[in-house]
Amino acid sequence: MIFKKGLDKITPYEPGKPIEEVKRALGLKEVYKLASNEIPFTPDYIRKAVSKEVKNINRYPEGSSFYLRKNLALKLKVKESQLVFGNGSDELITLILRATIEDNDEVIIGYPTFLVYEIQAAVCGAKIIKVPLYNLRYDLRSMAKRVTGKTKIIFIANPDNPTGTYVNQEEVRSFLKSIPKSVLVVFDEAYFEFAPSDFPKTFDFLKKRGNIVITRTFSKVYGLAGLRIGYAVTTEKIAGVLNKIREPFNINRFAQVAALAAVKNDKFMKATRTYVLREKGYLYRELKRLNVTFGKSATNFVLIDFKKDTGRLNNYLLKKGIIVRPLTGWGLKNYFRVTAGFHKENVKFIKCLASYLDGGLK
Ligand SMILES: Cc1ncc(COP(=O)(O)O)c(C=O)c1O
Repeated sequence: MIFKKGLDKITPYEPGKPIEEVKRALGLKEVYKLASNEIPFTPDYIRKAVSKEVKNINRYPEGSSFYLRKNLALKLKVKESQLVFGNGSDELITLILRATIEDNDEVIIGYPTFLVYEIQAAVCGAKIIKVPLYNLRYDLRSMAKRVTGKTKIIFIANPDNPTGTYVNQEEVRSFLKSIPKSVLVVFDEAYFEFAPSDFPKTFDFLKKRGNIVITRTFSKVYGLAGLRIGYAVTTEKIAGVLNKIREPFNINRFAQVAALAAVKNDKFMKATRTYVLREKGYLYRELKRLNVTFGKSATNFVLIDFKKDTGRLNNYLLKKGIIVRPLTGWGLKNYFRVTAGFHKENVKFIKCLASYLDGGLK
């Protein structure tokens, strides 16, 4: 056996089906993807920034993401040396684990939550402690109770995926009080820009406590999922180590210029957020009208409890050209997740769901 112990037990990450694949497999011309919590459009100013960079693709990018680092640090009011860029925040999660985990170290995660923590922690040989959510929310008290002398990291997806729920300022404040300073707490804030006003001020906690990493992404509200870029804000010491061990050119040229343009364009970000939140409101209203059970979400997606296996419904929607996200990978076979897309996409999703339900829950 050439591989590390435990790799055979890893369940692979199953992404939302790509549009191209569904078109090919089902012979469809038009397919709407509401499966991966992306925004539905590519902004023009990003296209321009990327096109201008094409002439330089024979050269390696700047390994430090120089201009992006400067501008983002200014915007976030942190030091440039506190930032780490990753090939998506996925890569940052991997880097954090690679830099810290030694045999038998424990990593505490919620369940269900973003699957990458578990997969990458297993690769690093960590013992994974899964703490079930309570009413589909992170149960921070129970997570704190599971801390031992061997605990290295606690991952908090806030807001969480796939539930869309979040923990607020007060909950995080009292949680952090109960966690030894030696434990690294990672706040994965991929959906930060969609979250409500009592969302935790994690930068303040970082200043006071240290030993915190906050990860965010350009994949969601900024619309750069296909370019793969996210960032971490942490102490200079932790950032120094993560920057030392990352691949030297992990952020490609297009990602750097696109993210820089995004950082400078708050107007687009705010307009996107307004659009998405309005569409999420539309989904809430229509799901309520259809008597479908769903949870309020602090993100750009909605978790739906179908109360029955969603397998047949998913196939029905696929045939109609709509990709939603089944949650069997999380063990939630009665649930599915739908991302707020373009208005016409959301309307079609609701129409198809209604016609499926009209035929009775199959
Ligand atoms: C909670 C959470 N964290 C991280 C990510 C990864 O984002 P990125 O595209 O930056 O790798 C996602 C993507 O869906 C997510 O839902």
